[in-house]
Amino acid sequence: MSGQSLPAFWVLVPAAGVGSRMRADRPKQYLQLAGKTILEHTLDCFLGHPGLRGLVVSLAADDPYWPTLSCAQDPRVRRAEGGRERADSVLGGLSRLIELGAREQDWVLVHDAARPNLARSDLDLLLSELADDPIGGLLAVPARDTLKRAGADGRVLETVDRSPIWLAYTPQMFRLGPLRRALVDALAAGAAITDEASALEWAGAAPRLIEGRADNLKITRPEDLDWLRQRWSAGR
Ligand code: C5P
Repeated sequence: MSGQSLPAFWVLVPAAGVGSRMRADRPKQYLQLAGKTILEHTLDCFLGHPGLRGLVVSLAADDPYWPTLSCAQDPRVRRAEGGRERADSVLGGLSRLIELGAREQDWVLVHDAARPNLARSDLDLLLSELADDPIGGLLAVPARDTLKRAGADGRVLETVDRSPIWLAYTPQMFRLGPLRRALVDALAAGAAITDEASALEWAGAAPRLIEGRADNLKITRPEDLDWLRQRWSAGR
């Protein structure tokens, strides 16, 4: 597939979270993986793509790690203000993109800071599948294990039909204006917003699910990082 046929896009990486499940001495996006931080690998998934218009990273105001990275000096990478929740960090990033010239109908790809194993083929698949979509969508993976609903006592209440269940991954790709309005309105209403798609859903839209690779995993626990280190040392 040629890069020419894909739409232009902006990237927003919310990186103001702490990631306490990693039990590390620093936010997980700053842990080392194959000679660089996880966050640098994540940015590398987009930098150099011919369709990339600009890239913004939302960071905590007192983040002491970011200024030590070489990508902090990269003119293609801009900093935005993170917030209390992920949705606040995304809103901060969208405001920054508007300052940089992004327009209402431009595509914005929001991608987790701790998802460094995004394949170029998945990024291009998302861009090509959604290029003409009126709403946008996200990379996702169908649930493959049997699902159980747990009771308060930690025992199985029932087995859940997994056939319509998908795991929401990133990037999530939406147009700037509708995404911003959906986030602002959903937050004002006190809705639980855990990803960008859930804000669009709250606003009544139905984002498309684009089946991606299961190894585009979000590093959440120490074993995820161990797995990726081994995988990459064996060759990507
Ligand atoms: O904690 P979790 O892995 O679900 O966070 C998803 C993404 O949102 C991460 O990239 C994290 O840094 C980001 N985030 C943020 N601001 C927050 C909370 C999370 O940018 N207040």
